[in-house]
Amino acid sequence: MKFFLDTANLDEIRRGIQMGLVDGVTTNPTLISKEGREFWELVSEICRMVDGPVSLEVTALEAEGMIKEARELAKIGENVVVKIPMTEEGIKAVKRLEAEGVKTNVTLVFSPLQALIAAKAGASYVSPFIGRLDDISTEGMRLVEDILTIFSNYDIFTQVIVASVRHPMHVLEAALLGADIVTMPFRVMEQLFRHPLTDIGLERFLKDWEKVPKRGLG
Ligand code: E4P
Repeated sequence: MKFFLDTANLDEIRRGIQMGLVDGVTTNPTLISKEGREFWELVSEICRMVDGPVSLEVTALEAEGMIKEARELAKIGENVVVKIPMTEEGIKAVKRLEAEGVKTNVTLVFSPLQALIAAKAGASYVSPFIGRLDDISTEGMRLVEDILTIFSNYDIFTQVIVASVRHPMHVLEAALLGADIVTMPFRVMEQLFRHPLTDIGLERFLKDWEKVPKRGLG
């Protein structure tokens, strides 16, 4: 399973890359706005830093406008994936962009049939938003399960990016279901390393190591 970072923060991306865990990055207008930087400069820097796919979102609402924006975004680098909202206009744009070789990620997916429509339009990726469904007392992970079942029923190659991830359990459940990718905030990526028994175990080993008579290392 691939790990993407859901951030536009350069420091987080740098630290994630140092951990060896960043297979790609996803951004959205909210994440971009938090950085207080000029858009094109910021996203160009992100695309240069990251080896894998980087999702950048369009903001137009009509297909023509989305296509125009997408073509500009795609010029930034070969790893650009254009994020298109799951609307009727968005799906028209996906079909045309994929036909001309621009990779798309259909975002704001909240139902299995929306994911199926995106796949039928030829989207490279779909992003079901799990946390936002959990927030309204609906089981978000059930959506991922349904999408994976439908995609496997029809040998669909669109990759599923589990998005709107809030905690490590979302990552675990996505992995158990066999999702292709999870995109997570940096905070969640850091949490994946931690277990209290690891800390206790390490502390005990180091304490016991102090009791061992040693000649010294050098
Ligand atoms: C996915 O690509 C989105 O950027 C993201 O996961 C949204 O998550 P949120 O619900 O935490 O805003």
